[in-house]
This record gives sequence, structure tokens and C-alpha cells, in this order.
Amino acid sequence: MSSTAWPVVISFLLVLPFKAHGEHFGYCCTEHTKDLSNNNLTRIPSHLSNNIEYLDVSHNNISSIVHGDLSGLTHLCFLKITHCGLQHISPDAFSSNSEIKVLNISYNHLTIIPNLHLPQLRILDLSSNPYPSYVLPDSFGNLNYLSTLAIGSPDATSVKVDDFVPLQNIHLKKLIFGDGTELQNYKKGVFSQLTSLQEVILKVTFCQRFDIFKYMIMDFDRTQTKKIQLIKLFPDQCSITTDPFEAFKDLHVLSNLSIIDTWMNSSVMVKLFKNVWKSSFEEIAFLNITYNEDTPDGFQLPIQNHTTNLRAFILDGVHHHQYRYPTINMSVELIDQLTYLKFSGTGMNILPCNLISAIKSLKILDLSNNLLDDSGFWWTGCSSHKVFPALRKLSLSHNRFNDLAEIAKNVNDMKFLESLDLSFNSISIGKPCFWPSHLTELNLSHNNLGNNVFRFLSPHFQKIDLSKTGLSVIPFNIISLFPKLTHLYMSFNSIQVIPADIQAPTLVSLHIDQNAITFISLKSMEGFPKLRTLKASRNPFSCDCDSFWFMTEFNKSLLLDWPHAYACSTPPAFSGRRLETFEFGWLSCQPGLQAAVVLPVLFVVGAALAITVYACDGVWYTKMLWVWIQMKRRGYKRADRLLNATFRYHAFISYSQHDSVWVGSQLVPELERSGLSLCVHERDFEPGKWIVDNIINCVEDSYKSLFILSKNFVQSEWCNYELFFAQHRAISVNDDSLVFVLLEPIPTDSLPKKFLKLRTLLRRKTYLEWPADERKQRVFWCNLRAILQTVDQSKILKDVATDIADICPLVPVKD
Ligand SMILES: *[C@@H]1O[C@H](CO)[C@@H](O)[C@H](O)[C@H]1NC(C)=O
Ligand SMILES: *[C@@H]1O[C@H](CO)[C@@H](O)[C@H](O)[C@H]1NC(C)=O
Ligand SMILES: *[C@@H]1O[C@H](CO)[C@@H](O)[C@H](O)[C@H]1NC(C)=O
Ligand SMILES: *[C@@H]1O[C@H](CO)[C@@H](O)[C@H](O)[C@H]1NC(C)=O
Ligand SMILES: *[C@@H]1O[C@H](CO)[C@@H](O)[C@H](O)[C@H]1NC(C)=O
Ligand SMILES: *[C@@H]1O[C@H](CO)[C@@H](O)[C@H](O)[C@H]1NC(C)=O
Ligand SMILES: *[C@@H]1O[C@H](CO)[C@@H](O)[C@H](O)[C@H]1NC(C)=O
Ligand SMILES: *[C@@H]1O[C@H](CO)[C@@H](O)[C@H](O)[C@H]1NC(C)=O
Ligand SMILES: *[C@@H]1O[C@H](CO)[C@@H](O)[C@H](O)[C@H]1NC(C)=O
Ligand SMILES: *[C@@H]1O[C@H](CO)[C@@H](O)[C@H](O)[C@H]1NC(C)=O
Repeated sequence: MSSTAWPVVISFLLVLPFKAHGEHFGYCCTEHTKDLSNNNLTRIPSHLSNNIEYLDVSHNNISSIVHGDLSGLTHLCFLKITHCGLQHISPDAFSSNSEIKVLNISYNHLTIIPNLHLPQLRILDLSSNPYPSYVLPDSFGNLNYLSTLAIGSPDATSVKVDDFVPLQNIHLKKLIFGDGTELQNYKKGVFSQLTSLQEVILKVTFCQRFDIFKYMIMDFDRTQTKKIQLIKLFPDQCSITTDPFEAFKDLHVLSNLSIIDTWMNSSVMVKLFKNVWKSSFEEIAFLNITYNEDTPDGFQLPIQNHTTNLRAFILDGVHHHQYRYPTINMSVELIDQLTYLKFSGTGMNILPCNLISAIKSLKILDLSNNLLDDSGFWWTGCSSHKVFPALRKLSLSHNRFNDLAEIAKNVNDMKFLESLDLSFNSISIGKPCFWPSHLTELNLSHNNLGNNVFRFLSPHFQKIDLSKTGLSVIPFNIISLFPKLTHLYMSFNSIQVIPADIQAPTLVSLHIDQNAITFISLKSMEGFPKLRTLKASRNPFSCDCDSFWFMTEFNKSLLLDWPHAYACSTPPAFSGRRLETFEFGWLSCQPGLQAAVVLPVLFVVGAALAITVYACDGVWYTKMLWVWIQMKRRGYKRADRLLNATFRYHAFISYSQHDSVWVGSQLVPELERSGLSLCVHERDFEPGKWIVDNIINCVEDSYKSLFILSKNFVQSEWCNYELFFAQHRAISVNDDSLVFVLLEPIPTDSLPKKFLKLRTLLRRKTYLEWPADERKQRVFWCNLRAILQTVDQSKILKDVATDIADICPLVPVKD
């Protein structure tokens, strides 16, 4: 693993488990974290860095903390030492750690509640330690900021009048009390001393001493506690003869009650409800209960002559002790103030419709996580009833619904329904769907639907969730399908692009995370002028110029999970790297800027060149350039032909007009007599054709080009062009086709400067010299014929050709 990857991995390991346990980070910043849990430590290591703010040493074997163990950690804010077998904390153990705000020493073997001098402490968890009593040390009176206290011992069975006195003046807001055991004694009034309490979690079991339960509840009601959770209220085996809940009817403050992880008999349930009806409770929740009908006719709740405060009822997770439908007999009138009802995880497969669907005031119904299907929800027995007269929001998530058209038809009966959740079902599409116009939100996530799904939705929809529905394209005409669309969620699909021409002028929120999108472009984002949130994380982004706009220009405050969940996928070298840290080539990714930079540079270079050109043979270069352009136009077409060419002529003869007498009377007759065919400047040029075209034709049709060098040739412009053509072909076709005949001595110095390389040629004598001597002339003709007839690989000629290329810097050599 690379060194840069480590910090990321570590921070995930540390942060995620903490958060998953619902522990409090609000008070400490998460920057300097150290997780030493499960390390077989027998003491807190001494070498820890001074800047650590978070330290987790839980699940080790640390039996004591003494002075000095934590002395280096002066910035420590969060300390967790749970499941360590901790037996002893010396009074000065935290003397250097006055910054500690969260201390969790639960699940240890502490036999006394330690003295703590931590002026900043906010959260203290002392639960699940075997101290024999709840007597708090006086030092707790100095924990001025303590807001959450968890305390509970299996060995402490009494709560005495003075136990919590030190906290009398502390503004404790949350108390988690007990260890799942039953109490023997509770002194009335103890908890009412904690006057600022707002939330209580009671982990105390009751079977015999319901008087204690009653006193505790009444005491909490005298504080500011609104929410109370009762965990494992009754043990599994307990016959309850009295009314455990009689305290409820006199409550004034408590408003939210949760009963969690417990066994409930129908007889007890009836007692509970009779009291709840008269109580201040607005919300009652049963979470993970085992329900047993111990009364022959189940749950019977007769008409109550009281009005109730109850507005919300939650049943989440019911294990039925019997294998039969529970009997519930209660009048709908009793619950006609209920606005929120959740029946989840109950195994329900048929809706008790004359009860639930008739509740007049019900606005939100959550039937998620049951075994309902189309016919179990809309069964015939229900049809005559007025269904859900006020329902706004219906969740049928995690059930067994399947026919979307049928569902669409049926929800037309729910006159005010706005939101429908059909996620995690087995929805299939096919038949046309007729949706009511009041339905504006539909959640179809986690159904296997495919790209056709858009045709089965309603133009009235404003919020659509199509996450994990097998989509691969976003329809570009989304605006005409859903003119009022504000929220579109399409996470977990295989969408590859956001169409560039998409128009969604009303869209506020778009989720396209976990798809196959490689880049987000300006063009597509222009189609979302009102966008406020975008979730695009965990896509395989390509870290190249395609992502440049997104990286540099896009307003990152619209992104929900920037930057940690955005990583490069391609190119492979950058795979896995955070998009945020990727450095783009600024210039290379911006055509506009590139032009802005390159054009002035080109202009300056061009100007400099122009001045140079004008100063030194400008006209010549210009003409060369013109000819080169002409040449190129033909060159591309002919390149192939030239490569395996069959030529019309053995040689093209290039000469100055001043030498035409020698060429006409000597050279041409001599060569033609030996069977060579020649293209001669004057004679073979097509009349009426531009001379340059003629030259080009001749050069291209000839196997070799023969240059008759003389002072006149060098000075003649046309001859320069001819030389150039031949050079061009020699290089592009890669055959050494240039032959030089020196007709008269040319002093190297007389050559124009631009013929520097020609001067080299002459100096190196890489040419045939026309001898004045007649005998020598015979040899000359022999040599020349041989050169023109054979494939001449001589390096000399090639050198000449490249040399000539060098003197024409405006003309790029194409090879
Ligand atoms: C203390 O740690 C235990 C064990 O991880 C955990 O269950 C408990 O919620 C923590 N206490 C607080 C107040 O976060
Ligand atoms: C701790 O010790 C147990 C058994 O002694 C061993 O299996 C485990 O790997 C050790 N863990 C570490 C983190 O050293
Ligand atoms: C914990 O450490 C002590 C020594 O410090 C040792 O005697 C004991 O066996 C250890 N306990 C466990 C569960 O490893
Ligand atoms: C529930 O009723 C059963 C008898 O049906 C009884 O054995 C059990 O103790 C009761 N439990 C509670 C918590 O009421
Ligand atoms: C649900 O409650 C039962 C006892 O009623 C308990 O044994 C079980 O652990 C609880 N499950 C959860 C997930 O809390
Ligand atoms: C208490 O219940 C009411 C009514 O259902 C709800 O709106 C509120 O959020 C609940 N309060 C807490 C703290 O759970
Ligand atoms: C339901 O309760 C009412 C009165 O509370 C009673 O008259 C009726 O017989 C009960 N119905 C059933 C089926 O138990
Ligand atoms: C109201 O109910 C109580 C007991 O539940 C009963 O004593 C009282 O007579 C009832 N009052 C009316 C008006 O029905
Ligand atoms: C749709 O349902 C899924 C699964 O129940 C849920 O996670 C998601 O938040 C819902 N979407 C909306 C927009 O509420
Ligand atoms: C980015 O978006 C936020 C929130 O919408 C907005 O407040 C901020 O002005 C935007 N910044 C720029 C530079 O547009």
C-alpha cells in the first residue's frame, strides 16, 4: 500500500466504527485520532504523540490507569477504555488531561465510581461496572458541563436518597440508568433532583417492584424529560397481576415513550393503553418486542371516555409468540387523532383495513418491511370503505408489491396522497399507468425496471427515486416528461453520461452517485440552472481534460459528499486517487486559454521570422513557401504512386536558360542516343501550363533529376525551385535521385548565403565536372549514363538533398 493511501484508510477505520456506535463526536474534532483497540495492550503506551485528541484503547487488558499513563496527552478530548478489565483509576490519573470532554469507561471491572476532576467533561459513561452502589463521589459536583451520564451496575440494587446529590446543580440533560437488572430499593424523589433532564433511557427490569417503576416515572415527569425509553422492561417469565402503568395517567411532561426489547402480553398491552389514553404521551413506540396473546380475545380496547394526546404510534419489529393473526378490537374513533402510524417488521400480509385505512386524521402511514402484496393491501373486504381520507404519505417499502399499473390505479382512491414509497419490492412495468395528479413523489428504488420506466411515470411527479433500478440512460427530454421535476435520484445504476443537451430547468437536487459516469461537463450542467445539490460520488472519473471544468469551475458547495468520495478511475496510473488532489495541466486543458497564450507567441515568432525573412532573401523564401504549398497539395495524392513508381523519364534536366545551348546540343543528344528518355525544360513542357506545374510534373515523372550547375543556374530563380523539387522528392521517396553536373567552376564564395550547403557540396566535390578536354568528355558521358541508369545509393547525393532541406527552414521535411 502506498504511503499516501494510509491516512485515508486509517481515518475510515477510526471514524466509521465510532459513528456506527452512535458515540458523540460533536464535542471533539476528529483530526488527531488514534485507534489502539484490540491490541492486547496491558497498559496505555507511553510513546503516544502529544497532539492526539481521540484515543480508543478499548478491548485490551488494561487493569489500571495511574498517574503518568496519560500525562503526555494534554490535548486529549475523547477517551474510550471499554472492555479492558479496568479495576483501578488512581485519583490523579487524568491530572494532565483537563481537556477531556468524552470519557467512556463502561464494561470494565471498576468496583468504585472513580473521583473525576475533569472540568470540561460533557459525556461520561460508567455503565456496566460492578460498583455496589450508585453513590456518586462529591467531585461530580464539579463536572459543571456534564450533560450525559450513563451509569449502571449489576451489583447495585438500591438507589438511595443522597446518591445523586452531587449532580443537583449540574445541568444534566440525558441519563442512561441501570444494567438490566431489577432494583430492590428506590427512594422516591431521587431522580426529580436532576431538574434539567430531557431524555432518559431506563435499563431496569421490573417484575415485582412496580412501585419503583411508578416512583421513577413520576420523578422523571417532574424534570423536563419528554422522551423516555424503557429497555427490557419485563423479563421473559413474569406474571403481571397488578397494573404496572398506573403512574401514566397522571403524567404531564413525558410525551414520547419507547418500549424496547421486551416481552409484551396482550393483557399487559391493554393495561398500558388504558393508561396511555389518559396520559401526556403523544408518541408511543414498540421496538423489537415479542407479542403474546394471553387473553382469549386478544387485544380489546373498549371506548374510552377520555380524549387522548396520542398522535403517533410505532410498531417496529414484532415477534409473534403464536402462529396466528393477532386480534385487535378497538374503535377507529379512539384513534381518529392519530397522524402517524408505523407498522413495520410485523409479518403483516393482509391490511386490517377497517381499522387502519379508516383513520380519519392519518397523514403518514409506514407499512414497510412486511409481507404485503397488491391483493393483501387492496383486498376485496376493504373496497367498500372510505380509504385513507387524509393520507399524504404512504410507504410500502420492503414488501412484495409487483404490478405498477394496478398500484397507480388504486392510489387514485387516496384523494390526498402525495408521496408513495415502493422501494425494495418486485415491481414490474408493462401496462400503462394512470397516476392521480396529486401524487408528486414516487420512490421506485431497488426494483428491477430498466430504461423504459420513464414511460410509466406521471408528468405530475416532482420527486422521483430510481436508484438501483437498472437504468443506463437519462432521457434528454426529461423536461417534457416531468415539467415540474425538482428531485431526481438515480444512484446505483449504470448511467455513463449526463446528456449534453439535457434540459431540467426546475431540478433542484440530482443524485447520480455509484454509476458509470466518467466526467461531468459544463454543457450538461447548464441544463440544471436551479440545481442546489448534486451527489456524484463513487463514479469512475477520468482524470484528464474531460474533468477539468468540473474540477476547476464547478461550485463544490453543491456537492453532498465532496471530496472524500470522488476518485479517479482512469488513467490507470491515477486510479484510486482523490479527484481533489489531481493536478490538471492548466494550459493543455483550456483551448481558449491555449489560444490566448499560443496566438501571441505565434504572432511574435511570426513577426520575428517575417523580419528575418525580409532582411535576408525574403522574396525567395516566400516563393519557396508558395511552391511548397503547391507541392504539398499534389504530394499527398502522389506519395503512394511515387513509392512504387514507374517513371516516364529517366531524368529531368534542370538548367539555366544561359546553358541551354550546351544542354540542347550536347547533353540531350548524347543521353537520348543511349536510350535514356528525358524531360527537358523547354522541349517537354506542356504549353499553356504554368511553368511550376510543368516542373512538378516533370520531376515526378522522372527517375532522377539532373542539375546543370553553373553561375547562371545558381542565380536563376527557377533553377532554385527545380532544385528544391528534386530535394523534396528525394527525401519523401527516399531515393537518391539528385545528380549534379558542374558546367563551369563556381567559386564557393559567389554562392548566395542561403546556399550554404550547396557550397559544402561544391567544396566536397560531390558532383560530376564537365571537362574541357574532349577525351575526358567521353568518360564523363559514360559516368553520367551509368549514374542515370543505375539506382544510385550514393550517400553523397543524399547528403546534398538533406543539406538543401536545411537551407529551407520554412519548409518542413516530411519523411
Ligand atoms: C461507550 O462504549 C460502549 C461500548 O462501545 C458503547 O456501547 C456506548 O454507547 C458508549 N457510551 C457512550 C455514551 O457513547
Ligand atoms: C492478541 O492475542 C490473541 C491471543 O493471545 C491473538 O490471537 C491476537 O492475534 C492478538 N492480537 C494482536 C493485535 O496482537
Ligand atoms: C491481562 O493481563 C494480566 C497481566 O497484566 C494477566 O495476568 C491476565 O491473564 C491478562 N488477561 C487476559 C484476559 O489476557
Ligand atoms: C405473558 O403471559 C404468559 C402466559 O400466557 C405468562 O407466562 C408470562 O409470564 C407473561 N409475561 C408477561 C411479561 O406478562
Ligand atoms: C430483540 O429483543 C429480544 C428480547 O425481547 C432480544 O433478545 C434481542 O436481542 C433483541 N434484538 C435486537 C436486535 O435488539
Ligand atoms: C416525540 O413525538 C413527537 C410526535 O410523534 C415527534 O414529533 C417528536 O419528534 C418526538 N420527539 C423525540 C425527541 O423523539
Ligand atoms: C369489540 O369490542 C366491542 C366493545 O368494546 C364489543 O362489543 C365487540 O363484541 C368486540 N368484538 C369482538 C370481535 O371482540
Ligand atoms: C369514564 O370511565 C371511568 C372508568 O373508566 C368510569 O368510572 C366513568 O363512569 C366513565 N365516565 C363516563 C361519563 O362514561
Ligand atoms: C427511497 O427509498 C430508499 C429505500 O427505502 C431510501 O433509502 C431513500 O431515501 C428513499 N428516497 C427518498 C427520496 O426518500
Ligand atoms: C456556490 O453555491 C453556494 C450554495 O448554493 C452559494 O452560496 C455560493 O455563492 C456559490 N458560489 C459560487 C462561487 O457560485
